[in-house]
Amino acid sequence: MEYRGYDSAGIALHQKDSIFNLRTFGKVSLLEDGMIEQRPKSKLGIAHTRWATHGQPSEQNAHPHASSGEVHIVHNGIIENYLELTEKLTKDGYQFESETDSEVIAHLLHQHLQSSGDLLAAMHDAIKELDGAYAIAAIHINDKSRLIVARNKSPLLIGVGLEENFAASDPLALSQLTNEFVFLEDGDVAEITKQSYQVYDGKSSPVTRDVTEIDIAVNAVTKGEYSHFMEKEIYEQPDAVANTINGKFGEDDVLDNIFGLDSSEIFRKIKRIQFVACGTSLHAGKVGRFWFEQIAKIPCYVDFASEYRYRDPLVEEDTLFVTISQSGETADTLAALRYAQEKDYLSTLSICNVPTSSLARESEHVLFTNAGPEIGVASTKAFTTQLAGLMLLAMSIAKSLDRDQELRKNLASELKALPEVIKETLKLSDEILSIVPNIADKHNALFLGRGMFFPIVQEGALKLKEISYIHAEAYPAGELKHGPLALVDDQIPVVALSPENTLTEKLVSNLEEVKARGGTLYVFGGPNSKINLERGAYIQMPECSELLAPIIYTIPLQILAYQVACQRGTDLDQPRNLAKSVTVE
Ligand code: G6P
Repeated sequence: MEYRGYDSAGIALHQKDSIFNLRTFGKVSLLEDGMIEQRPKSKLGIAHTRWATHGQPSEQNAHPHASSGEVHIVHNGIIENYLELTEKLTKDGYQFESETDSEVIAHLLHQHLQSSGDLLAAMHDAIKELDGAYAIAAIHINDKSRLIVARNKSPLLIGVGLEENFAASDPLALSQLTNEFVFLEDGDVAEITKQSYQVYDGKSSPVTRDVTEIDIAVNAVTKGEYSHFMEKEIYEQPDAVANTINGKFGEDDVLDNIFGLDSSEIFRKIKRIQFVACGTSLHAGKVGRFWFEQIAKIPCYVDFASEYRYRDPLVEEDTLFVTISQSGETADTLAALRYAQEKDYLSTLSICNVPTSSLARESEHVLFTNAGPEIGVASTKAFTTQLAGLMLLAMSIAKSLDRDQELRKNLASELKALPEVIKETLKLSDEILSIVPNIADKHNALFLGRGMFFPIVQEGALKLKEISYIHAEAYPAGELKHGPLALVDDQIPVVALSPENTLTEKLVSNLEEVKARGGTLYVFGGPNSKINLERGAYIQMPECSELLAPIIYTIPLQILAYQVACQRGTDLDQPRNLAKSVTVE
């Protein structure tokens, strides 16, 4: 579960007459070292990797948290009323040892155990007092055979084994142990033993939840011959994009209903689109906006998921609500979807990489990007496959609205050829390596692009900052003169995307402004460039169609960020302060 956070980790295990506890500050490998040294034996336990929300990363704040040495819990999510509960529990005599919001759960369970004497009953009672998001797993010192878990708004599932059962936040964590999973729903509590499990709904009544079979290839979660997951995932992009588009085309047009039953019929009514996403996925939405306006001729809005529902959005008639997410578990995106479900949208649709995710299960229509597990924190193949998925959506809507058949025909053949163009682009790696030393020793970088390449440079700047810790800012090139030009000197590399399109000449003028101020330009562009560089470098991109060029121009920026981070020696698959899947608001 390291991709959910790796600032500290901990484990609690049932021993003969006690509970073994080990918590470490830092990477999970340190916990592993401690376990190897101490070799505790156990058949029941809980463990956790943390991404700090309340209280800094430290051994004391690491989970599991305990109450009176009897109840031990791990928690993912945020308990919003923890201050109120802390006050109440302190008055009742409980002492808090951490600064986390999670510790209240251990004490609450302990308190309820005093009346019921049973951990399952105590969990049912305790969660009634909790506001917020949680996936909880709890054990009790006197109960050597049961693990009790509870879920609300944070993902949680049971992994069903033979004479062994598990609970986790993601099937990926259990992929080497089982391929049968039971996804819990909000309000569910479950009792898990070695031989069996029983799920209870929000009313404490026993319920049956479906068992889903998922086979996750072991090589999908190992690095193989690559040095980092990010590198592997960059090189997987030709296959990943091919997997997104495979089976979606007839001879020369996109097939009907690839977004689910009746989707083509619903698309006939669309007048507007609202995109909501976070991070890299948001950048995909920003590119998508250009495509929808150009191909489907539909106006689009794009919002940060964390902002969207707080601006009290006005929902216009026949607007399709679209979320984009690699994990399908990002708390802000999921909360935005749930908010939208209460509003008057035409329908909800998700472009998502994880079929079993909450987002995929809760959206009315879904397109899976089929990129395979993405482990590196910096998203790469998820982004390019999201773009391919968005292009499929733009084409599907254009088809339903009967718009521009000729354009769709061209796009269909260009999309089919895209994996090969990505392969060509990956060959630029050595050329990119030659500019890396000039960027790796700098503190700041500017990224410039125009039109649909502006979100691509935003993505490029995000990649560089998250894994190399170089401050990078992206600007639409025409906006440079309104402020950021003041930053330009010989210490700030300026990376620009200059594909050949209607904006090329304008962009070239913007780049001349940089040159005139002594800036060093690193330009990725087409074969007919009119830019004359005295310093820096011009890297020629393979030929590709104008509308699909954003996907191709993403690749060198990923490689650049990766190589710069390698040169700087950062822990680029697990950069400081970040997590792959952010399941808290
Ligand atoms: C985190 C990850 C990013 C990702 C973002 C949204 O911040 O580090 O790589 O883009 O979450 O995640 P999602 O799974 O919703 O695409």
